Amino acid sequence: MQTRVGRSESKRRGGQLLKYGLVTGLAAVITVGALALLVNILERKREARNPFFRVVELHDGITDPAVWGKNFPIQYDSYRRTVDQVRTRYGGSEALPRTPTQADPRSIVAQSKLEEDPRLKTLWAGYAFALDTREDRGHAYMLDDATFTGRQARPQPGACLNCHSSAYAAYKKLGEGDIMKGFERFNALPFAEARKLVEHPVACIDCHDPETMQLRITRPAFIEGIRQLKAKEGIPDYDVNRMATRQEMRSYVCAQCHVEYYFKGEEKRLTFPWKHGLKVEDIMAYYDENGVRDWVHAETGAPVLKAQHPEFELWSQGIHARSGVACADCHMPYQRVGAFKVSDHHVRSPVLNVHRSCQTCHPWPEEELKARIFTIQERTHQLRSRALDALMDLIADIKAARQAGRTDSQLKEALTYHRKAQFYIDFIEAENSTGFHAPEEAARILAEAIDFCRQGQIAVRKLSEKSVSSGPPVAQNRTEAP
Ligand code: HEC
Ligand code: HEC
Ligand code: HEC
Ligand code: HEC
Ligand code: HEC
Repeated sequence: MQTRVGRSESKRRGGQLLKYGLVTGLAAVITVGALALLVNILERKREARNPFFRVVELHDGITDPAVWGKNFPIQYDSYRRTVDQVRTRYGGSEALPRTPTQADPRSIVAQSKLEEDPRLKTLWAGYAFALDTREDRGHAYMLDDATFTGRQARPQPGACLNCHSSAYAAYKKLGEGDIMKGFERFNALPFAEARKLVEHPVACIDCHDPETMQLRITRPAFIEGIRQLKAKEGIPDYDVNRMATRQEMRSYVCAQCHVEYYFKGEEKRLTFPWKHGLKVEDIMAYYDENGVRDWVHAETGAPVLKAQHPEFELWSQGIHARSGVACADCHMPYQRVGAFKVSDHHVRSPVLNVHRSCQTCHPWPEEELKARIFTIQERTHQLRSRALDALMDLIADIKAARQAGRTDSQLKEALTYHRKAQFYIDFIEAENSTGFHAPEEAARILAEAIDFCRQGQIAVRKLSEKSVSSGPPVAQNRTEAP
């Protein structure tokens, strides 16, 4: 018995020992694991904290990126490469040679969107965009392209340069240190006057604090826009530079410019229409309630709107935004240069950089990733084409109805549909990812736009079912909006 007990006792003790050993072993493994992770994190932090040699003492008065580049030569080198032009299937940009003139000294431009798709001339009939609209290209060109675009045939405000130059120093100067005041004065200037106050395209000082190199927001329009958006989401008095997380800042710095906007009132205040939210219908609701129109459509007489580069808005409706993936993750991915891990300041199409832009998160082969991008873009592009066709039909019907003597008040319903359809289509046309930033949302918007076009056509048709009015015909050669 004893022996049996003893044996079972020793067996139990053996079991306990084994358990003890296992637990200790496990604890050791966990400790080592945790330590390894900690070391790894510390290492990554150290890597992320870019070691640099303080060659110059940077401060808020140094605007020239070349001077900042003395402390950060790797970032500066990649920043300068935004002059590169490489075409991708639906994006990038092509370097087209042109003969410089006195009025426009550019010897290279990007391809014309109007030549690629002549329907766009009808879409924008009566507005400066029908004169000259091109594919976007690298940041290095932003100042020249805004200065010399064919759209300058109509006077443009200084407020354009909020997004086309390193404007931070100009705000400080005009506002005597107060960027909000400086911003207001800057907006009110004619283009040529504001142009004299800026020298560089977007530069280090616009995105970074010179002392800490942390990201910062320097654009008053974004500070005001995001405050309204957050207020709507239930966060009062939002101060972006104090309250945004680092990951949010990696998108917000871009959202200072890559957004839909308009110039409000006589003072031409650059304004982001985000009071009701970022979706296309929220923005439309804002414009409707404030009676905003960019111009009167030359062919139908509808009071219409021009959508412009809503990258931030569309991205915010997609799976990547929802998963916390920032603009910089894809457009400024980390790169290893010697012993350093730095952010690639050669901001460009991720299609040219799938290896670093996507494969850090997705273990799919490069060809597969490209195929996924192109499939989304192909579908968006085709749907956009269908939507443009539908809009051409609606415009033709309204034009014909006018020629048959229909009045503004009779055409009111059709014109309202034109305004809506036009903005929805342009929202995807002007967005530069060809649907990639939020594929389902892009498809939804285009599908609704097609429906608006067809409903507008039905509204015109309903008029001929009723008796034709006997009033005098309206003028056929409608003059362009100012
Ligand atoms: C998950 C990756 C990803 C994220 C996040 C992302 N983009 Fe993109 N972006 C792309 C891809 C892919 C394209 C398509 C490029 C092409 O067609 O060559 C693109 C296209 C663009 C283009 C047009 C580029 C060109 O070559 O014409 C701009 C501008 C842009 N994105 C800005 C932004 C901004 C601003 C944000 C954040 C609000 C953002 N992107 C977030 C992947 C991303
Ligand atoms: C809210 C910021 C913002 C404002 C204000 C702004 N732009 Fe831009 N602009 C951009 C961005 C972002 C791009 C690149 C994306 C694109 O081309 O859609 C761009 C592209 C351009 C281009 C190159 C592509 C093209 O359309 O030919 C020109 C030219 C241009 N803008 C002119 C102007 C002019 C003129 C004004 C003033 C009426 C202006 N911009 C105001 C942000 C802005
Ligand atoms: C000060 C305004 C401004 C800021 C800030 C800004 N952009 Fe741009 N971006 C522009 C303008 C303007 C253009 C078009 C320049 C042109 O066509 O001349 C442009 C062009 C681009 C392109 C097209 C490049 C190509 O080669 O086709 C991409 C991609 C892009 N921006 C992404 C970003 C990302 C990502 C961020 C944030 C890290 C960002 N931008 C921040 C104004 C800005
Ligand atoms: C359009 C905005 C923008 C401009 C302009 C810009 N940067 Fe950055 N920079 C970023 C972003 C985004 C990061 C990533 C920051 C983060 O992850 O916290 C970054 C990171 C950095 C870092 C930290 C280390 C690293 O590489 O991640 C340094 C240093 C830096 N930039 C230097 C510069 C210099 C020098 C210039 C001018 C030549 C410049 N940047 C221009 C957006 C910008
Ligand atoms: C920082 C990480 C990160 C980067 C960089 C990134 N993605 Fe993603 N991607 C995600 C996450 C997270 C999801 C959502 C996955 C999920 O929830 O199932 C996702 C989803 C997707 C999807 C599926 C979309 C859908 O509707 O289901 C595609 C396609 C995709 N990514 C392509 C790309 C491409 C192409 C690039 C480079 C241009 C890229 N991603 C860059 C993290 C990333």
